[in-house]
Amino acid sequence: MLQVRPYTMRDWPGLFQIQRECFPPPYPEEQLWSSAQFESHIRHFPDGALCAVAGGEPVGSATCLIIQFDPAHPEHTWAEVAGDGFIHTHNPQGDTLYGIDMAVRPAWRRRGVARALYAARFDLVRRLGLKRFLAGGRMPGYHRYAGRLTPEAYAAAVIRGEIDDLVITPQLRAGLRPLQVIHNYLPDEESANCALLLEWRP
Ligand SMILES: CC(C)(COP(=O)(O)OP(=O)(O)OC[C@H]1O[C@@H](n2cnc3c(N)ncnc32)[C@H](O)[C@@H]1OP(=O)(O)O)[C@@H](O)C(=O)NCCC(=O)NCCS
Repeated sequence: MLQVRPYTMRDWPGLFQIQRECFPPPYPEEQLWSSAQFESHIRHFPDGALCAVAGGEPVGSATCLIIQFDPAHPEHTWAEVAGDGFIHTHNPQGDTLYGIDMAVRPAWRRRGVARALYAARFDLVRRLGLKRFLAGGRMPGYHRYAGRLTPEAYAAAVIRGEIDDLVITPQLRAGLRPLQVIHNYLPDEESANCALLLEWRP
């Protein structure tokens, strides 16, 4: 039985293990959550710090914050929005719930865990009366096509369903709508540092 609930520091060992399993090299190890960042998420916005639990063990986690988003100026980096992962940028007066991370243990993938975490985020958007949920989706499958396709052409092929991407495809299946590719979003070799900005509106 899968349950989604806010995480606490008691979950930290299990959640750090999820990070290690989900972001293996070449993903930079220094980008995995530290206990100080986890503590900061819980302190700034406990409702947005979510984990999925099965059999008493965390099997996935998803962190978000609230920002004020201007659709006329969508360009940004992950570090700017996420306050370098500490979310001191959280703005309770903002209009947009922004997802800065989602990770599901490899052994638990393709069983609806991400879908359940997105559903909890969408509930939060409704509960807080926000305008949208927004996320920059890594596109880790891009490195396999980098010689042949631009990041935009790769994203378009994933959106058309011609290529499956480990991250973008589940986001689209969960109901997010693609907006645009952002370059230099996050140091992420597999995605050529790009992300696809996606939106969900209530
Ligand atoms: C992205 C991730 C969170 C998805 O988690 P998940 O629990 O496996 O996703 P779900 O089982 O909820 O899948 C949701 C939908 O996407 C589909 N899907 C999931 N993984 C897929 C894949 N690799 N290829 C194609 N479709 C996929 C599922 O079939 C499901 O669709 P359906 O319900 O219409 O059949 C997980 O793969 C992960 O942790 N990846 C590594 C970490 C990462 O890069 N996170 C994102 C950036 S912070």
